[in-house]
Amino acid sequence: MNRILVTGGAGFIGSNFVRMILDEEPGVLVVNLDKLTYAGNLENLGGYMKKANHKFVKGDICNGDMVEKLIDEYKIEAIINFAAESHVDRSISEPKVFIDTNVTGTLTLLEAARDKKLTRFVQVSTDEVYGSLKPDDPEFSERTLISPNSPYSASKAAADHLVRAFGHTWNLPVNITRCSNNYGAYQFPEKMIPLMINNALNDKPLPVYGDGMQVRDWLYVNDHCRAIWVVLTEAKAGEVYNIGGCNEKTNMEVIRLILKKVGKEESLIKHVADRLGHDRRYAIDAGKIMTELGWKPTVTFEEGLEKTIQWYLDNSAWLSNVVSGDYQKYYQDMYGNR
Ligand code: NAD
Ligand code: TYD
Repeated sequence: MNRILVTGGAGFIGSNFVRMILDEEPGVLVVNLDKLTYAGNLENLGGYMKKANHKFVKGDICNGDMVEKLIDEYKIEAIINFAAESHVDRSISEPKVFIDTNVTGTLTLLEAARDKKLTRFVQVSTDEVYGSLKPDDPEFSERTLISPNSPYSASKAAADHLVRAFGHTWNLPVNITRCSNNYGAYQFPEKMIPLMINNALNDKPLPVYGDGMQVRDWLYVNDHCRAIWVVLTEAKAGEVYNIGGCNEKTNMEVIRLILKKVGKEESLIKHVADRLGHDRRYAIDAGKIMTELGWKPTVTFEEGLEKTIQWYLDNSAWLSNVVSGDYQKYYQDMYGNR
């Protein structure tokens, strides 16, 4: 796969993926299409913007004419679709843009991929499409019923169904990856781990939704990026793969560990009103990608968390840049009066 169109490559996971490919696969041309919403930032690509085999294009995945032009101009072979509205809380306050980007945008990309006869379409999806587990339920497998609970997960599930339908109806060679919660460098500080790290570093309260006993499975972002590359280059068309860190933790466990690692007191923890419809537990059975494609997580949670904390300590300029506009207002609206 030598010529790829990556969408959402200025966001958290997309930019980690683009930097990884440019570092490790010098023969691959990466065309990077991103709308640069509040979550997309060219600083995430830094010196990589100047690389000859990286072409950044600012644009919307809902613009089909532009997507088709890019496919023709750069002789694109495959699309990896990271572009999305990705934050559950925002989907509860403003769901419509989630339908526009996550559903209509994915449909637009699928039509272009079908009409231009691309050889692969990888949809970067989420474990959240499976809904919520009870404490003793088995982990999500690729056969678990799709039961999304938030507008975000519903929009991602709708996109997954469209991807499957294009594979079935037009034989478009598709794959879907469903990953658990990621953390690592360049994550926008509205998501739990970077939010808690940065609040702790600045002695601000750590807002825990409800009792904080919700469970997530955490995976270091670079391990997710490697999994996507393996699926793109080695998976059989039509297959769905769950990706996870085999690392279930309650939010309170994660938050206490962050406080310990940055040397701050637990008195910073502040329980706030719970998220509407808050999913209690996600857990992933990643056995299929491990057995079929030989992928496994390589970074332990403690190691990944230490690297992530160090990254935020070393990149305060990045942080003040990304929070200077939208996030300040968002944080004030969410927590200002609590
Ligand atoms: P993010 O919010 O950090 O980045 C999303 C990127 O998409 C941004 O650069 C944004 O500018 C871009 N974008 C948004 N709308 C666009 C549009 N209409 N056209 C073009 N670009 C647009 O998200 P992320 O955390 O990096 O997630 C990337 C993908 O991975 C998403 O599809 C998400 O559903 C999925 N995912 C995320 C996680 C996680 O823990 N973050 C876990 C599993 C799956
Ligand atoms: P988040 O990072 O938003 O990911 P997701 O909701 O997609 O899993 O949240 C992770 C968990 O942390 C989730 O259970 C909600 C919780 N949470 C808080 O308790 N406080 C916060 O300020 C945020 C952003 C999340």
